Amino acid sequence: MAKNKLNKNWLHDHINDPYVKLAQKEGFRARAAYKLKEIDESEKLIKPGQVIVDLGCTPGSWAQYTRRKLAGADAGGIHGTIIGLDMLPMEPIADVQYIQGDFREEEVLGQLDELLQGRKADLVLSDMAPNLSGIPTADAARMEHLIDLAIEFSQNHMKPTGALLVKCFKDMGFTQILEKFRDEFNTVKQIKPKASRDKSSEIFLLGRGLKNPVD
Ligand SMILES: C[S@@+](CC[C@H](N)C(=O)[O-])C[C@H]1O[C@@H](n2cnc3c(N)ncnc32)[C@H](O)[C@@H]1O
Repeated sequence: MAKNKLNKNWLHDHINDPYVKLAQKEGFRARAAYKLKEIDESEKLIKPGQVIVDLGCTPGSWAQYTRRKLAGADAGGIHGTIIGLDMLPMEPIADVQYIQGDFREEEVLGQLDELLQGRKADLVLSDMAPNLSGIPTADAARMEHLIDLAIEFSQNHMKPTGALLVKCFKDMGFTQILEKFRDEFNTVKQIKPKASRDKSSEIFLLGRGLKNPVD
């Protein structure tokens, strides 16, 4: 299909997408908020008091949703900690700590480590996806690498009873990623939220309870 037509189709789908409309109405920066919302509502992931790390947080809709869940009844602050990280800049969100950097870099991991101040996270979220090269094996390897790093980060910086939620794609190394999740987590669930477009091979993996936590 010509690129122009593809763009037009995307725009048509986007304008008519009920989640895009809802996001505008409810003040979320992206429709992605509803993927996390649905997963959270069925899995009861986010609770006040938690330490939550949001990898690939820009433009910020997951952080906004998480913030709303950690906000108390009164207007002030949140009960808990949210640390977001992304290569791209993010417009500030009240009470959300943000690091701009590439998760694959040691130095950026060091900054995350500093913000955690020795605390272990309850929940690690990753909506990261690599920039695509169009070469299927290379893209699968990049995706696997990001998820390997997210698993390793969880083993080092998450409570043994914590949970890691990651975005994957069925056509990007998914079998190997699922296998790794089963090796490293006590329970593993595959979730395709309604807000995840049918056309997309996107799927989320939720791992709970670390089999091999690092002290
Ligand atoms: C789909 S967006 C995330 C949307 C976000 N969850 C929200 O609700 O607004 C994916 C993000 O992952 C980021 N990303 C991809 N690879 C990354 C990496 N290696 N380090 C940091 N961020 C990365 C991208 O810059 C992009 O902003």
